Amino acid sequence: MKFPSLFFLAPMAEITTPALRRLITEFDDRVVLHSEMLSAGAIVSGGFHNDCMTARFPFDGHFIYQIEGGDAEVMAEACRILSGNGPLGININMGCPVSKMMKKGHGAALLLDERRAARIVRACRRATQLPLSVKMRSGYDRDDEAALVRFAGMLRDEGADYIVLHPRYAKLRYTRRARWDLVRLLKESVGLPVVGNGDIVTAKGALARMKETGCDGVMIGRGAVASPWIFLQCNALAKGEECDITIDIRGLFIKGLRYIEEYLPAHLHRSRGHRFSFYFSGNIFHSHSLYSEIRKEHSIGEMIGLVDGYFQRNPREVEKRLRHDGDE
Ligand SMILES: Cc1cc2nc3c(=O)[nH]c(=O)nc-3n(C[C@H](O)[C@H](O)[C@H](O)COP(=O)(O)O)c2cc1C
Repeated sequence: MKFPSLFFLAPMAEITTPALRRLITEFDDRVVLHSEMLSAGAIVSGGFHNDCMTARFPFDGHFIYQIEGGDAEVMAEACRILSGNGPLGININMGCPVSKMMKKGHGAALLLDERRAARIVRACRRATQLPLSVKMRSGYDRDDEAALVRFAGMLRDEGADYIVLHPRYAKLRYTRRARWDLVRLLKESVGLPVVGNGDIVTAKGALARMKETGCDGVMIGRGAVASPWIFLQCNALAKGEECDITIDIRGLFIKGLRYIEEYLPAHLHRSRGHRFSFYFSGNIFHSHSLYSEIRKEHSIGEMIGLVDGYFQRNPREVEKRLRHDGDE
């Protein structure tokens, strides 16, 4: 299959909100976006606060829903329901290492239960004609290259159209470096398009990993929250163009928080405001002290007040000039 872009925004619980998606697409609307991880059970039962999580907005051009669960029929039904919203595709989560999910046999626990994982992909394949992908870790409690290739082959045989690999085994969570050599291994062995993911924080890094591994796309998570402009730089570099931009850090920080207020119901403002601030505050010098103040606040208005105060005290940090794409 042909992707509309080489670059993908990773699905991130509590982070890939409409607010972040809008912030990112205001820089570059070619990027392939993902929803937050959505519980298939909650989608099917129709309860929960789903509407704001499943809603699509004009800026959600190339948009993929990510679903998580452990029951093939429920996953398939969620696929059917979400396919009705006309997304670009559906992604199945086989990578989440959070123990609450793994105990239920969801997320990365599926890497240990190949038969159940196969049933899920088979049922979802029957449920939708849209591109179907699986996002997975490179293993559960260790990297086993043969097991990785066999599992990915099973996904292909059951009808997955491509695989997103975050090449860290699940028990590592986010420690150590992502093993991009495993992205290359998968690309060379599975006969499906492979999107690589992990530790990309610059456009140079994205292009270098793509070149080294031959992967078909690069997915960026935390680096895109800290630098919502990164996809613009990636696309410029991919075309060999200069990308010399000045970023209004203060304005973007406030805009990101305001969009959370605009697009999400009040009960999500605190968690989403904190999550966004945690990563975006990495752009400023005293990020730690500003973030620890923001963490005490519940409303977006109060968070914005703190951000505003910070930049009044540190006016030299209001803007950041980025030449080329930054160093790797
Ligand atoms: C706060 C947070 C939430 C995440 N939530 C999800 C999720 O819901 N689904 C998923 O497949 N991966 C999730 N991830 C993993 C990311 O999609 C990605 O695989 C990982 O962060 C590595 O990419 P990066 O180094 O570019 O951030 C999450 C990561 C973080 C940091």
